[in-house]
Amino acid sequence: MISASELLDMAKAVAENAHCPYSKFPVGAAAVWDDGTIDLGVNVENAASPLGVCAERTAVANGVSRGERVLVMIAVWADVEQVVTPCGGCRQVMLEFAPDDLAELQVILGGRDQMRLTNLALLLPDAFRSY
Ligand code: THU
Repeated sequence: MISASELLDMAKAVAENAHCPYSKFPVGAAAVWDDGTIDLGVNVENAASPLGVCAERTAVANGVSRGERVLVMIAVWADVEQVVTPCGGCRQVMLEFAPDDLAELQVILGGRDQMRLTNLALLLPDAFRSY
């Protein structure tokens, strides 16, 4: 399995492809699935602003489109001093494809000077899961 720092490097590299003319805040994400495959994503903004999609969601959607369903690691990188943390919507999207034990979905957050390792159980406590 790829290391956290290697995955974060992939997220950082792909952030160059972000389409963010409105926020000018490029974000990159790299998602690892239970079979070890990796999908990348960037934020894709739109002139009609609610249509913009975060990098995490793009990466997840790319993997789901290939048939993946169980996410085990996701790295997110943005050009901030410390780390970027995923929005609430992206946490809920991660939950949709998380292992039963949410602590098994490792989340790697990164910025210019920091890397932080966390997991979905910590990022999304008391989550609404399914009905
Ligand atoms: N953004 C992400 O792609 N991921 C995050 O974790 C935080 C925010 C994007 C959304 C929008 O395109 C831009 O960053 C500014 O909010």
